[in-house]
Amino acid sequence: MRSEEYSVVFSTIAPYYDTLMSFINYTSWVSYIAHILELNEIKDTTLLDLACGTGVCLKLWWERGYTLIGLDKSLEMLAICRKRLAPLDDGRIHLINGDMRDFTLAHRVPIVTCLYDSLNYLLTEEDLFSCFQHVYDSLPEHGIFVFDMNTIHCLRDEWGDSTLHRNDERMHSVWTNRFDPETAVSSLDLTLTVTENGSQQTIHERHQERGYALSLIMKLLSRAGFYCSLYRHLTFIPAQETDIRIMGVARK
Ligand SMILES: C[S@@+](CC[C@H](N)C(=O)[O-])C[C@H]1O[C@@H](n2cnc3c(N)ncnc32)[C@H](O)[C@@H]1O
Repeated sequence: MRSEEYSVVFSTIAPYYDTLMSFINYTSWVSYIAHILELNEIKDTTLLDLACGTGVCLKLWWERGYTLIGLDKSLEMLAICRKRLAPLDDGRIHLINGDMRDFTLAHRVPIVTCLYDSLNYLLTEEDLFSCFQHVYDSLPEHGIFVFDMNTIHCLRDEWGDSTLHRNDERMHSVWTNRFDPETAVSSLDLTLTVTENGSQQTIHERHQERGYALSLIMKLLSRAGFYCSLYRHLTFIPAQETDIRIMGVARK
């Protein structure tokens, strides 16, 4: 398949993203982060969710009484997000179409999150550092940045070189992963065949995620000015390279 046949990442799959991710228990993820905030004695309830996608987590935070900013690069993901949050809109939610490597806010925000692999979509050390720097600049003194990332182990050994077929309601998907050990980048060719109103549509997107050594993540965070800890996802056990997903907690 030639590369020009692929759609822009997170454009054509946006309407199907929630179905594809229906196995994720975002409620437990948000409860875990709420626990992290409690342990860090964060009393503020204004939160910026970077790479907010279709806004599943924003909705869960809204239900907890938070004032929210969601930022995402994909207009199509933001359109789904806007639709999800429209019935709730009481002036506590603001959405921005922007790039997490380079953004500025009108006011500092005490809590920043970035969830579900989104940082792995930054494929260079410079981009990851630039994101950390912009998050740092967006936080007040003692502000907190909470994020997850897939590890190199996940991309190399769990996803590896594999092809997976999945059936959801009215949709068949094929997930073909290739890991490049030179760059620690996993390329996913995702093909969806969607049946709607009796006709079939085929969608191709290529997604790329990079794995970063834990020591490099720590180094970049501290270079940006953060104090940080990394945990095995959904736990408070110190992270190891053998974990699949890690959680970062960085304080300004
Ligand atoms: C795997 S999705 C995660 C979405 C959401 N955080 C969730 O938990 O479902 C990754 C998201 O990152 C966004 N994204 C990727 N690169 C970005 C960038 N440089 N700046 C802002 N958003 C970006 C994509 O548009 C997509 O919505």
